[in-house]
Amino acid sequence: MMSRDASYALLRRRVLDVTGIDIDSYRHQQMERRLRALLDRFKVEDYYTYAKMIERDPEKARELWDFITINVSEFFRNPERWRELREKVVPSLYSGGPLRAWSAGCANGAEPYSLAIVLQEACPGGQYSVLATDIDRKTLERARAGVYEEGDLKNVDWTRMKYFEKMGERYSVSDTVRSRVRFEYHDLLSDEYPSRMDLVVCRNVVIYFTEQAKERVYRGFAAALRPGGVLFLGETETIFNPVSIGLEPVTPFFYRRV
Ligand SMILES: C[S@@+](CC[C@H](N)C(=O)[O-])C[C@H]1O[C@@H](n2cnc3c(N)ncnc32)[C@H](O)[C@@H]1O
Repeated sequence: MMSRDASYALLRRRVLDVTGIDIDSYRHQQMERRLRALLDRFKVEDYYTYAKMIERDPEKARELWDFITINVSEFFRNPERWRELREKVVPSLYSGGPLRAWSAGCANGAEPYSLAIVLQEACPGGQYSVLATDIDRKTLERARAGVYEEGDLKNVDWTRMKYFEKMGERYSVSDTVRSRVRFEYHDLLSDEYPSRMDLVVCRNVVIYFTEQAKERVYRGFAAALRPGGVLFLGETETIFNPVSIGLEPVTPFFYRRV
């Protein structure tokens, strides 16, 4: 009989093989709750049996994957912050050259397209580019297509509807905006980070990461930013002791690279 630790280690390896994700980088309590729910769902007693199920049928790891890649998003999520970004942050970043922005954990694309709209309005001569990354290839495909339900646009001001085209019941992002966003696969926990970014937006992604993984990711963002560049986080995300990793708080959700 395998010990609980050994069977957990086996499950961790199988999930890593099948999904490329290390479940140890995600918050223990939430992960364990989810794993227990899956054991119940599959009517199996222990991690070992679940690991063996995944070996035989990798699809059995799908729900775990869906949990890790919850893709909920919308345009201009928390509109107040986007106003701050537009009015205070972006003007402070513009230095004459093209502005480089990165939306990390971009889900269905609503975030990087919101970013492109803001930069379209705020960057003289429209000199900017947006890199948008995620680990979920399916959601990246949907993001590239750029077609949304009306509900996704609930925070879009009518003056910004010019960036969308109505297609029956749905809305398609205009070519002007779409052509400025480049979507790529990128795992924040294992891939190399881009560099010389003026702005990094990472919202509602690290919430499930362990404190250790979060610290690694924040250090990675600090290194990805040029001095003076800004990191934009989600409503529930705060960096403790940002100065120790070369960032200084600007307002509660914006941090500037020293
Ligand atoms: C809740 S969505 C956030 C979307 C958007 N940033 C927002 O705030 O509206 C979280 C996204 O993070 C992605 N994600 C989870 N783990 C990741 C990782 N290790 N690297 C990159 N993206 C990850 C998920 O696939 C999902 O699309």
